[in-house]
Amino acid sequence: MNAPGPSAKPEPPVKVLLVEDNPGDARLTIEALKDVGAHRFAVTHVERLADAQTRLRDEPFDVVLLDLSLPDAKGLSTVRRVEGADPSIPIVVLSGFDNETLALEAVQAGAQDYLVKGESSGETIARAIRYAIERKRGEKLLFEAKENAESASKAKSEFLATMSHELRTPLNAILGFSEVIQNEIFGPIGNPRYQEYLDDIINSGRHLLDLINEILDLAKIEAGKADIYEEELSIRDLIDACLRLVKERAMTSRVTITTRLDDGLRTLCADESMLKKIVLNLLSNAVKFTPPGGEVVVEAKPDEDGALLLIIADNGIGIAEKDQGRVFEYFVQVDGALNRKYVGTGLGLPLAKSLTELHGGTILLESALGAGTTVTVRFPAERVAWQGESDQADSAAAGEPRTLIAREDRRTCRAPDRCAASRRTVGRTLYDAARARASR
Ligand SMILES: Nc1ncnc2c1ncn2[C@@H]1O[C@H](COP(=O)(O)OP(=O)(O)O)[C@@H](O)[C@H]1O
Ligand SMILES: [Mg+2]
Repeated sequence: MNAPGPSAKPEPPVKVLLVEDNPGDARLTIEALKDVGAHRFAVTHVERLADAQTRLRDEPFDVVLLDLSLPDAKGLSTVRRVEGADPSIPIVVLSGFDNETLALEAVQAGAQDYLVKGESSGETIARAIRYAIERKRGEKLLFEAKENAESASKAKSEFLATMSHELRTPLNAILGFSEVIQNEIFGPIGNPRYQEYLDDIINSGRHLLDLINEILDLAKIEAGKADIYEEELSIRDLIDACLRLVKERAMTSRVTITTRLDDGLRTLCADESMLKKIVLNLLSNAVKFTPPGGEVVVEAKPDEDGALLLIIADNGIGIAEKDQGRVFEYFVQVDGALNRKYVGTGLGLPLAKSLTELHGGTILLESALGAGTTVTVRFPAERVAWQGESDQADSAAAGEPRTLIAREDRRTCRAPDRCAASRRTVGRTLYDAARARASR
């Protein structure tokens, strides 16, 4: 042990606040803490919790030694109230009971250690105090590191969101003018090679724009700044609109698309553009990763509890089991011999997942290499209206003023209990907080 030499300055005493109403116990503890090893303790003694709270506010202490049975506080709430008075103070509980459950609960409530009176020598108490101070310091460092990491991650998302936005503007100019030249609006180009190069410029530009848009969407969600506009959408219309967009690609690569939409299908309360991105990403993956002659099936049906299941299945190249978790990570594209020839960014699935989760939904991917992939998106029952439920939904909305918004084909939700049509700004954290509140 490193005992201080004669010339070394002695360490200042550890400032202990002893909260104990029994004068005998208090005296024993104070005596026990006199001259233990190289450490000195300066003990301040109070008998009531209220006095402890005042002292903690008025002067700095290194540790609190706390009895759990005081005239003005009993049990675990004593620990919580000391924590409330000073969240940074280490607490060692000194109790008259030898009770493991209580000891564990005291630690869970915020104490760093638990000692039984009468069984604890000065050495034991001194050691518990030193360890409690160290543990609390470690906790504080961890907490600070977590806060720093969180704010760095938020700053990164905000940077990405701004950056993507700034990149889009010049890119739109590049694309716009390239298209003007490609269409020879002000006269012929001349050399056919220039036409070829223009196709390359435009294709690369569009790819870059898709990539930027996807990064922007993801960054906005991460930064808690995604605008969600919820309204009642016809599920059929939405699926049809997405099918129209991938039909040509499917025909070129000779992939047939079949739909199986449940008869009872009516509406889903969701953000239209977000929902389209979810369905389109999954549909285009299914078409892209299915060789000629293959089939894609789009199915929409109710789950047992009335939730909506949107299932997009293909009999394409499939994903090996070891890669199935990874494909939801940013920029992950499975690098197999089978799919190296496919273009993409590796952001489609993470984006579909984030957008689904913003709606309180879940996404499940099942796949077998060489056999095909099935992705099931599930939207909670509160968001879905099925045929036959309409009367209920209408009567729930009876008397509610209907707000029509600018575009005629859009209208706000009629069942305010199911879908509060509104524009909200959400992100993971906000949404999670709201969900936690709702489930309470
Ligand atoms: N239906 C599918 N069949 C086979 N592989 C798929 C399918 N959907 C996704 N994948 C795999 O998951 C990866 C990530 O998908 P995604 O995030 O949409 O990125 P991208 O389509 O841009 O490559 C794809 O590159 C592919 O390897
Ligand atoms: Mg994709």
